[in-house]
Amino acid sequence: MHRIRSLALASALLHTGSAAVLDLPIWYRNTYALVNFQVGTPAQDHLLLFDTGSGTSWLADKKCADDACDNGSGFPRNGYDANASTTSVDLGVYNSIGYLGGATGGFTYCDVFELGGAAWNQTFIAANQSSWSFIPGDGFLGMGFSSIAQPATKTVVETMIEAGLLDEPKFGLYYGKEFEYTGDGPGEGVLTLGGSKEALYVDGAMTWLPVRKDLNGTVYQLWRSTLRKFTGSRRLDGDEDGQPQSYNGTLEWAPGQANGVFDTGASMISVPDGRIAAMYASIGWDYEDLYWGRRVPLCTDFNASWSVAFTFSDDGVHFQDVAITGDRLARNGFAGRADACVPPFDASGSEGLVLFGQSFMRQFYTVYDFGGAEVESYKPLIGFGELKAEFRLPGEDSWGMRQ
Ligand SMILES: *[C@@H]1O[C@H](CO)[C@@H](O)[C@H](O)[C@H]1NC(C)=O
Ligand SMILES: *[C@@H]1O[C@H](CO)[C@@H](O)[C@H](O)[C@H]1NC(C)=O
Ligand SMILES: *[C@@H]1O[C@H](CO)[C@@H](O)[C@H](O)[C@H]1NC(C)=O
Ligand SMILES: *[C@@H]1O[C@H](CO)[C@@H](O)[C@H](O)[C@H]1NC(C)=O
Ligand SMILES: *[C@@H]1O[C@H](CO)[C@@H](O)[C@H](O)[C@H]1NC(C)=O
Ligand SMILES: *[C@@H]1O[C@H](CO)[C@@H](O)[C@H](O)[C@H]1NC(C)=O
Ligand SMILES: *[C@@H]1O[C@H](CO)[C@@H](O)[C@H](O)[C@H]1NC(C)=O
Repeated sequence: MHRIRSLALASALLHTGSAAVLDLPIWYRNTYALVNFQVGTPAQDHLLLFDTGSGTSWLADKKCADDACDNGSGFPRNGYDANASTTSVDLGVYNSIGYLGGATGGFTYCDVFELGGAAWNQTFIAANQSSWSFIPGDGFLGMGFSSIAQPATKTVVETMIEAGLLDEPKFGLYYGKEFEYTGDGPGEGVLTLGGSKEALYVDGAMTWLPVRKDLNGTVYQLWRSTLRKFTGSRRLDGDEDGQPQSYNGTLEWAPGQANGVFDTGASMISVPDGRIAAMYASIGWDYEDLYWGRRVPLCTDFNASWSVAFTFSDDGVHFQDVAITGDRLARNGFAGRADACVPPFDASGSEGLVLFGQSFMRQFYTVYDFGGAEVESYKPLIGFGELKAEFRLPGEDSWGMRQ
């Protein structure tokens, strides 16, 4: 799409669009979920990985995308070319971002971002270095809170809220059904900014978890909630000799000891190292066997005979459960085998952290609601809704068809 706009026109467009609900269709490449934004003048398309676990958005700069940064993704990248955009402003600040699993650095810019008729002035980093060699897109869209964004930058959603471009201060996410590769375009998944679509996607009531501030109780940083309990259970069919009738187990955390962090940039459910063996035992799996490769879980081991539930509470009075059955946690292709599936949990490296990544989040319609249009009035909640049957994946007997 080629559109030539003058700087004056760009400025006239800025902040004047009426509030809207914007649907961004989701592309998958190599299991990474991406959305398209238009950046600069003339506007260029950039596919960005949306990440609720970070704040700053970044795009590989032209040199990084063309050859200076490793590209192991198998997909071309379209770098941000500050020199080719008449609305680009170099803020003169060099920023480095460290993530769990990677790092990126570059100069901070302002430029015009566009989406469905809305245009605004957005801060981001044009990366001249990045260790994210495998990402099949141009950069990240940070969807945490601006309190964790790099100096001189703000998140895209909070910038849009402040500019009055969104109907409501929230976003909603339906991951779709195809999680590997949607080809030359997006699939059925949709990231909605400025609203959420429970009526379309959700069967029954939403479960709302209160978002917890940082440890000092001062600012919201991540989409995280206080975790108090884990429950796992598995029914055994038949009554084999000497076998228990069921497995089950419960783990608890004292108030403030553990967080569940909802991170679309992560892939698995990562749990505290000291608890992982007990969590597996609760569903009748031996963690040592998995760890040492003595057991390769088959996709048929992911079935509705077992389930796990995570219980959250802010005040120790109101408790909310988010539960899921084993069949819905299957992700095939483990150990290079089409019939093997990735174990449901890995170790988070932190005793107080359960990280909920894509394998969990995509089973629900999720809503990230700031609960207010100004930082001072935020009262954020994370919502989980069961997907209606037509928006769910086909059942467990369709393994072979999904690889
Ligand atoms: C965007 O903001 C920067 C920094 O405030 C400013 O210099 C620039 O002119 C703005 N760009 C547009 C197109 O309004
Ligand atoms: C990235 O790698 C892919 C596959 O090797 C290649 O087709 C593409 O041109 C590369 N992109 C760039 C910008 O070099
Ligand atoms: C922009 O142009 C200047 C001057 O020609 C050059 O030094 C700089 O490397 C260019 N920047 C990018 C990102 O290409
Ligand atoms: C990126 O820019 C910074 C700041 O100018 C510089 O120190 C660093 O060496 C650059 N990295 C690469 C790979 O060019
Ligand atoms: C919490 O407060 C302490 C003391 O004021 C400060 O050193 C620390 O950086 C704060 N932590 C966070 C996460 O803000
Ligand atoms: C939990 O497991 C124990 C030991 O196998 C068993 O005795 C008990 O009946 C189970 N409880 C439930 C609710 O399944
Ligand atoms: C269900 O999964 C368990 C392991 O989690 C496995 O032992 C059992 O055989 C599976 N049941 C069926 C019917 O495949």
